[in-house]
Amino acid sequence: MAVLAQKPPMGWNSWNTFGAHINEQLIMEMADTMVAEGYKEAGYEYVIIDDCWSLKERVDGKLVADPELFPHGMKALADYIHGKGLKFGMYSCAGTKTCAGYPGSYGHEAEDAKQFAQWDVDYLKYDFCYFPVCADAKNAYLTMAMALRSSGKDILFAACNWGKYDPSGWMRSRGAHTYRSTGDIFDIPKSYKDIFKSQVENIEGNAPDCYNDMDMLITGMHGSGNVGLNGCTDQQYLQHFAMWSFLGSPLIMGADLRKIDKTNKDILLNKGLIAINQDEEYRPAFLVDNMGDKRYILAKLLSGNRIALAFFNLEYESDYLNTMEISFCDLGIHSGTGIKMKFTNAVTGESIGVYQDAFSTQVLPDECKITIAEMILPEKE
Ligand code: DGJ
Repeated sequence: MAVLAQKPPMGWNSWNTFGAHINEQLIMEMADTMVAEGYKEAGYEYVIIDDCWSLKERVDGKLVADPELFPHGMKALADYIHGKGLKFGMYSCAGTKTCAGYPGSYGHEAEDAKQFAQWDVDYLKYDFCYFPVCADAKNAYLTMAMALRSSGKDILFAACNWGKYDPSGWMRSRGAHTYRSTGDIFDIPKSYKDIFKSQVENIEGNAPDCYNDMDMLITGMHGSGNVGLNGCTDQQYLQHFAMWSFLGSPLIMGADLRKIDKTNKDILLNKGLIAINQDEEYRPAFLVDNMGDKRYILAKLLSGNRIALAFFNLEYESDYLNTMEISFCDLGIHSGTGIKMKFTNAVTGESIGVYQDAFSTQVLPDECKITIAEMILPEKE
């Protein structure tokens, strides 16, 4: 089987904004928008239907798309999405029912995998509700991973187990291409900041074909989500997107792309941040410093002679000076070696300057500064 997740997958998923209110027209319009508005060109390729797409009962043992919501059926929708040069994602659950109470795949893995392959599905999100008490979760994910591999179609397996049973230790071995490592994200700043803090040191295993999925993006939702929260500021949405990009999470958008404002569209399309996420060497980021769990400095080695350095201020407001500083010593570069670093702002592309021994920058509460540093070796005497 081909390597299906050479890089963290990028796409759009229906859940965050629409919940159960989905239908084929909506999905087709989102695919249209992804092409027309530059998302596809930026790398977003999967169009993913989440929960609530099927009838409430199986028919002759099979999952059936709700004919009122999807009158032309899933194969026609897959054809439409493929016709746009995009890929088609669907959803099922490792338990007997999905989280919203629709039929799950437990005990039906073989016929469901075949069904998804017949519908020409490219990506399967696999949730974890209504899981039988005595059943073995790891085996349930392995069973579906193998069924998908036997289905005759390459289907990326997006396991959604919310970080249960030490995900970093078993999701890769059981066939997941991505694994959800936390509970659901919500459209408020505390939610993305808590997920970031809980996962910032849990990404070392990120490598081709299995990535820590920190959940769908809330960037640009502005309170339009299926659970009606207040949303975040644009600054916070940028911080959130930069965190997900930097940590190598899949970038799965959740906002209504037909209605998103220009500022947040530009965040989701930011070339510099996407390039860090999709860097061809796919090395995980690492934590340099987390001052009191409030201000984080991270590093991520990129292809070429570059290292990305990120400065995140997680405070909401602060009386302190908002200067964040990295001493090059923290990266093992001793002073007196003559080594310099040339800094560029990854978000704007602007040159910042050449530094020796240390780099400091102002980062206000909710802000981030994402930089690319190139090492310059000293000239010979
Ligand atoms: C729980 C998952 O974590 C969410 O992302 C979403 O898929 C819902 N279930 C759907 O019911």
